[in-house]
Amino acid sequence: MTMQSALNAQPEIDQYFDTHPDPRLDFTHVQRALQAGYARPFLLIDPEIIRAKYRRFRAAMPRVHTHYAVKANPDPRVVEILAKEGSDFEIASTAELDLLVSLGVKPSRVQYSNPVKARASIEYAASKGVVWFAFDSIEELRKIHSVAPHAKLYLRIDTPNIGSDWPLSGKFGAKLREVDAIIDAAAELGADLCGVTFHVGSQCRNAENWRVAIDNAKRIFCNMRLKGLVPKLLNIGGGFPVRLTKPIPSVEVIGTVVNESIADLGDDIRVVAEPGRYLVSDSACFVCRVIGASRRGDERWLYLDAGMFGGLLESTQGLQFELESDRKGALVPWHVAGPTCDSVDVLMKDQMLPEDLRDDDFIYFPNAGAYTTAYASTFNGFPLPDVRFV
Ligand SMILES: Cc1ncc(COP(=O)(O)O)c(C=O)c1O
Repeated sequence: MTMQSALNAQPEIDQYFDTHPDPRLDFTHVQRALQAGYARPFLLIDPEIIRAKYRRFRAAMPRVHTHYAVKANPDPRVVEILAKEGSDFEIASTAELDLLVSLGVKPSRVQYSNPVKARASIEYAASKGVVWFAFDSIEELRKIHSVAPHAKLYLRIDTPNIGSDWPLSGKFGAKLREVDAIIDAAAELGADLCGVTFHVGSQCRNAENWRVAIDNAKRIFCNMRLKGLVPKLLNIGGGFPVRLTKPIPSVEVIGTVVNESIADLGDDIRVVAEPGRYLVSDSACFVCRVIGASRRGDERWLYLDAGMFGGLLESTQGLQFELESDRKGALVPWHVAGPTCDSVDVLMKDQMLPEDLRDDDFIYFPNAGAYTTAYASTFNGFPLPDVRFV
């Protein structure tokens, strides 16, 4: 490669990685919220950012309808914002369905994408008017068909999660070698198997995962047609990444891959996605407080009033957030832990943070609107984080 061609190659790299000035909650909102007092950890959300992310997603993939994955942040106000924008919804449980119904969302706008469900949950959802159900085995196919014979079924397939910071393969997804037998079983039962879904893994930084999965889905559609089934749904799942600490492909780059891959699908196939993290993460900052800063041997330990049980579970499993504070001291390695007595409640080891951190200092986790408050429990009696809006 000549020097000139190497220089010419640079813009492609810039296009691949997300160099957009992504919106981020304006820190003055956090300062204002703190002036109003601090009683417990809280997530501060800017609804305008949720709206902007929704519109950017839709613009990047105009043919793809969104079904917001409620699990990412089930706060009713978040759901209402997205419902007003025109989003439909993806659920994992009866409680999520009840939440949507209580907010006036029609069950026909809901896809029940948890591949394994209790019989009673299927019965309840079908009685409320949910028609779309995911499954990933012959056993679940039979279960859904026996409870809701008119359900529209979509098959969750296994797919590569290469380059995803929060892989979701393994627990769910029919292996490709099993798909023909599943199609045969559906055809024999007279079940309306009419769709395919997959999940490339959450915080997926590899756009090619979508290409591979969509190509497999299209092959499965051909096999379904051969057995007299009529494909109607391609559900490309969630996984769209947000800016944390590692480079990510922009949603426009992923959109280019998706748009190319679905270009030859007829209008009879509805294409949907289930973004969770992408729509809500950037909109919020998680604020918590130091309750202990101690030195033991050579180690500095920082204890916060929220840990893995208080909303910050993802940081224990490899998702790194950019922690911020108001201190300006030299950066030194800290082990950061939550307040509970459980020794698994350690968020990160050797996190570089100012050496002058003290009790009562605030710690900020920007871009933490997804899978934080949703994961929180009151383990050990610590309160759930509050959710506030600017
Ligand atoms: C079935 C399903 N759809 C969508 C999502 C949302 O994924 P993400 O938040 O990565 O977009 C998840 C997350 O676990 C999921 O399990």
